[in-house]
Amino acid sequence: MDILIRSTPAEVALAAADIFTRYANDGATLGLATGSTPVAMYQELIARYERGEVSFAQSRAFLLDEYLGLAPDHEQSYYSDNRREFTSHVDFVDALVKSPAGDAADPARAAESYDAAIRQAGGVDIQLLGIGANGHIGFNEPSSSLRSRTHVTTLHPQTVRDNARFFDKEQDVPRHAITQGLGTISEARHLLLLATGANKASAVKALVEGPLSARCPASILQLHHSATVIVDEAAAAGLEDREYYLFADQNRVL
Ligand code: PGA
Repeated sequence: MDILIRSTPAEVALAAADIFTRYANDGATLGLATGSTPVAMYQELIARYERGEVSFAQSRAFLLDEYLGLAPDHEQSYYSDNRREFTSHVDFVDALVKSPAGDAADPARAAESYDAAIRQAGGVDIQLLGIGANGHIGFNEPSSSLRSRTHVTTLHPQTVRDNARFFDKEQDVPRHAITQGLGTISEARHLLLLATGANKASAVKALVEGPLSARCPASILQLHHSATVIVDEAAAAGLEDREYYLFADQNRVL
């Protein structure tokens, strides 16, 4: 795992945008994440697109997860959120930006088809990830199977509370979602996890220095052959071996 510690969230966004730009310009299949953390990186990518430095015209994209019961055009769906924050501002081919069908009549089948669609597209080249304060990635909450495929799942009450800020009231937050499973996520060729802010410090410590455990779903990054974690100082605060992470970052094998 490569661990990059940057002083501010803005520098995290720049470092992540540098990596994403290379993949997009190669026409890669991109795995997108929703939430507050990637927004600054998306804004940087939009600015680079407007300057002609990056294009998404040759890329396709798969979202990580979607609320159950919300149609793609629902204001709070993750599909809509991604369009608002990112995909509608750059040159993606709309039909090539996919999300799990949160409003499907048979959600379990929709989850299976989503996994199949990712496989048919040749897999995800780079999967962007945030991390929940409880260590979740996607909506894979603590206790999720480390090998799970895309599936229907129940949100942790903490996640419901955390996400209530996007809804009028907490009762409006869906309790269920379709999420890429930890096994699905693990198959992406490169995992890029971003974390900023002090409320992520203990989850980041568990991800990097804790045991591989369903208690911290993000710890599956420890098994991945190509994972990059970019954190700001606040999110890095709990890391014990920061001396090594900084040394390895400055003395990278090219
Ligand atoms: P956040 O969410 O980026 O809004 O903090 C991350 C997550 O819960 O995965």
